[in-house]
Amino acid sequence: MKAKQWVLKKQFQGNPKSSDVGIKEISLPNLKDGEVMIECLAISVDPYQRLFVKNAKPGDVMYGEQVAKVIESKNADYPVGAHVTTFAGWTTHAVVPGDKLVKVPEYPPDVPIGLALGLLGMTGLTAYYGLLKVGELKEGETVYVNAAAGAVGTVVGQLAKLKGCKVIGSAGSDDKVKYLKTELGFDEAFNYKTIPDMPTFEQTLKRLAPKGIDVFFENVGGLAFRAVLDQMNVDGRVALCGAISSYNSTDKFTPSIPSIGEPMTMKGLRITGFTGWAYSAKDKNNDGLKEMIKWVQEDKLKYPGHNFKGFENCFKAFLSLFTGDNIGKVLVTI
Ligand SMILES: NC(=O)c1ccc[n+]([C@@H]2O[C@H](COP(=O)([O-])OP(=O)(O)OC[C@H]3O[C@@H](n4cnc5c(N)ncnc54)[C@H](OP(=O)(O)O)[C@@H]3O)[C@@H](O)[C@H]2O)c1
Repeated sequence: MKAKQWVLKKQFQGNPKSSDVGIKEISLPNLKDGEVMIECLAISVDPYQRLFVKNAKPGDVMYGEQVAKVIESKNADYPVGAHVTTFAGWTTHAVVPGDKLVKVPEYPPDVPIGLALGLLGMTGLTAYYGLLKVGELKEGETVYVNAAAGAVGTVVGQLAKLKGCKVIGSAGSDDKVKYLKTELGFDEAFNYKTIPDMPTFEQTLKRLAPKGIDVFFENVGGLAFRAVLDQMNVDGRVALCGAISSYNSTDKFTPSIPSIGEPMTMKGLRITGFTGWAYSAKDKNNDGLKEMIKWVQEDKLKYPGHNFKGFENCFKAFLSLFTGDNIGKVLVTI
């Protein structure tokens, strides 16, 4: 069996370029006991892959998770036809040992299997654990989330509404702002690209959250991080999920966040970095996933997605995360 793979040709310098990657074809080995051969159904492209490339070398397969179908098996737990998720990378087919596979649970009818990579996968659960466990969100509180129209942000906003909270989101276009308010029920939303400076950013938040912010779900980083802290209430929590604005930076020592000591100390704020993976691993009973599936069954969560069709579009899909073309989870269906 032949497989196509996206491989790194050259380390990214600044913004990733199409000349940094390429597609190669390989022959897969025969199966050993315990292994299965999978055929990819959809590949997840995610901002963290930009970070992982910093530790990759030319020739490495682009890292990432996919949902796949077992097409050959020497593992009784994963018979032919089983649906699995696995971190096989950007590859059309792969030989994978059973301990690197996760079974996709039975979804309610009409729920697409791609959700195993989005709302019911890493991104959705990152929103769930980040908001409810790290952010310790309580009913009636006010949440601010940036990159609000993206894979994680769209879930954060909807969960905040489910928990009876006020939610404010920022995103990079008027269309996204409209979507957040009319389709996802955000109480307030604004286009950060139309805000000329940080004092105006602060005034905007003050106007939209007159009672202050209790939980800041941080996806973006940069100067605005400091501006948000001044709008937070005493005992506020920052769930530091990501900092996409810095991922293509070539200088990690250039300060982009001014001193945060004053609001942190005076308001007793807590900033907690976290990964969805770490919290998922601790959730031995999969309570988070079970609750999310229940909400999908009850029609309480929408799952906007931005689908690219065809394996050859993986890199294009990846770049869209940095140009902000997407609403919801970006997937490549094969
Ligand atoms: N901690 C974890 O376990 C975990 C898991 C998943 C994701 N994350 C993090 O969560 C964040 C969102 O990830 P996602 O998968 O949901 O991606 P996403 O939000 O679907 O896509 C990325 C979005 O970020 C915004 N963006 C891109 N470059 C930007 C820049 N320079 N300045 C401001 N905004 C920019 C764009 O939206 P706009 O139109 O709003 O600019 C873009 O649509 C990322 O920081 C990611 O690393 C963390």
